[in-house]
Amino acid sequence: MTVPSLSRRSFVAGGLAALVDLSAFGQPSTRPDTASPPPLPDIGGEGPWDYWASGQGAGVVRIAAAAILSASPYDTQPWLFRLRSTHIEVLADKNRNLGELDPFRRELYMGLGCAIENACVAAPAQGFNPVVRLLPESPAGNDNLAAAIELRPARQAKHPYHDAIARRHTNRLPYDTDRKIDQATLDALAGLASSADVQVIFLEATSPGGTVFTDLMMQATQLIIDTPDLREGRWAGLRAIAANPSALSAEALQRADANWLKATRTVACATAAAFGLIMVRGTRQDHRLHIEAGRLWQRIHLDGTNRDLAMQPMNHFVEVIDHETRTLETSRTSSTIRAALQQDWNGWEPIFGFRLGYAGAMAPRSPRRPLSSIVVT
Ligand SMILES: Cc1cc2nc3c(=O)[nH]c(=O)nc-3n(C[C@H](O)[C@H](O)[C@H](O)COP(=O)(O)O)c2cc1C
Repeated sequence: MTVPSLSRRSFVAGGLAALVDLSAFGQPSTRPDTASPPPLPDIGGEGPWDYWASGQGAGVVRIAAAAILSASPYDTQPWLFRLRSTHIEVLADKNRNLGELDPFRRELYMGLGCAIENACVAAPAQGFNPVVRLLPESPAGNDNLAAAIELRPARQAKHPYHDAIARRHTNRLPYDTDRKIDQATLDALAGLASSADVQVIFLEATSPGGTVFTDLMMQATQLIIDTPDLREGRWAGLRAIAANPSALSAEALQRADANWLKATRTVACATAAAFGLIMVRGTRQDHRLHIEAGRLWQRIHLDGTNRDLAMQPMNHFVEVIDHETRTLETSRTSSTIRAALQQDWNGWEPIFGFRLGYAGAMAPRSPRRPLSSIVVT
């Protein structure tokens, strides 16, 4: 299949300006279209991390190996890939969803955006300039096809985030409460937004806005635990990553909920240096905005990794905003957080929350499905 000709507006460029030239590689890629890719690795768990870190794979296989190391909601990894010599298609695996906890599939499509971003970061080292076309078959109907990443031969180069792919992990440990994040760093992270409709804002944890963020997060965590539909969505996420899902008893899940509530209060909210909120201009049902927000989140996390910052998504009240919007067509939680922001964000929706700070230790790797099980023909 060839990628149809694309309008300038529909592209999201792969960030070539930010590339570091590798003189050791030096030449534009001359990889022929017919080159056969290396075999797909079939090891899961921590295997995909070792595969990537030890430099295995080449071309599209290595780019896909980077994509699957990205963040995803509850580590559900809701993606499938179609690999061709000159492009990669990223498809939604819609069965891997969080039910009513993610009624608009916002988180699912954000996870796809994260994978797309990792692929774009990995591509230049394989001699490609990635050019991304989002939802290429929508609105015709097939929004399973989240993106087509065209791989244009280019001078081989290493993206500044390339090495951070292996070191980026969601860090749920306590952060250093004596260490603030300087304004220049927050401004640099805010500057990573590449779409006029997707922005990130920061709230110092102890500021009035940060206090509202914490209060809403605690109320939302309790609400998710107490509301059967929402709790079931969370449990679906926990089952998706369990080594033996059928062994997860109701008691074990309830214990996990109690620990989650406690950790949200005593670790996540209590030790954050700052909170971040990704805002989108438009409706909260728009998959294009979800994907772009996911790309931004992955970029922020990779950039933060290069700066030794620890980060953890915190989406409990964002999930409650989705739930309120779905069931009531309006959201009290959204109004409350918006009122706490300094700027007027009329017309914008909060769609992703996170905390950041400095942690004493690196977070562990989370398991991945083997690449061989998620590449389709
Ligand atoms: C859209 C989205 C929402 C997420 N929400 C949360 C969250 O509310 N709390 C949390 O601890 N992690 C959250 N995460 C992080 C995932 O759990 C994490 O990315 C996944 O387990 C893989 O681990 P890794 O990021 O360390 O590779 C979220 C990630 C994404 C992409």
